[in-house]
Amino acid sequence: MAEPLIVTIDGPAGVGKSTMAKRLARELGIPYLDTGAMFRAVAWKLGEGSWEWDEARLEAALGAFTFALSGTGEDSVLSLNGTPIGNEIRTEQVGMWASNVATLPVVRAFLKQAQRDVGARFSLVAEGRDMGTVIFPAAPRKFFLDASVEERARRRFLQLRELGKPADEAELREQIARRDDQDRNRAVAPLRPADDARLVDTTRLTPEQVFEILLHGVRP
Ligand code: C5P
Repeated sequence: MAEPLIVTIDGPAGVGKSTMAKRLARELGIPYLDTGAMFRAVAWKLGEGSWEWDEARLEAALGAFTFALSGTGEDSVLSLNGTPIGNEIRTEQVGMWASNVATLPVVRAFLKQAQRDVGARFSLVAEGRDMGTVIFPAAPRKFFLDASVEERARRRFLQLRELGKPADEAELREQIARRDDQDRNRAVAPLRPADDARLVDTTRLTPEQVFEILLHGVRP
């Protein structure tokens, strides 16, 4: 069997990684893996304050979690213990919880293994914060999307509104900036572009333009 093709998309919160990963995965006829959803689901299941547990307790709790990926393109479904992960994780609060558990080496080690297990079996578009740097360093195509925090807050605001979860845009901007700051400055697997990633500043680009850049990068 041919080696799975891994395309990585990293970048800060609200930059449009999931939208692009889904579209690219559809175009390539392969699944996409939303690794932020894995951190969110773990944080959601373990609950508020779990980031202060000791390692043994965390390790025991993580041992009960099994992730699975099925489907392709935007129909890719990520399940935790047999149940598809739903929209309950899509709030800024759960995003912050995810960022808190994501600072912990024991959580990152557990999810690294889970992410690599998926990548060993399927071709994938994998999106997150450390796909190109830590999880799939040998991936042949790597992208790092960025945009101003104002633009990202605006996009997240529109996205939440679409999900029927209206939010305050200024508050979102603050929350996103705080989360980015924690993600960029943590000791383990901080958010940063891989040396061989293609950087794309999407601030003034339409989704169509970003997609064209990615597709052209994958299929020159
Ligand atoms: O991408 P999303 O906003 O869903 O990610 C939620 C949080 O999970 C991020 O703020 C980050 O702290 C963490 N994360 C991570 N590494 C990844 C994906 C997400 O640390 N590969």
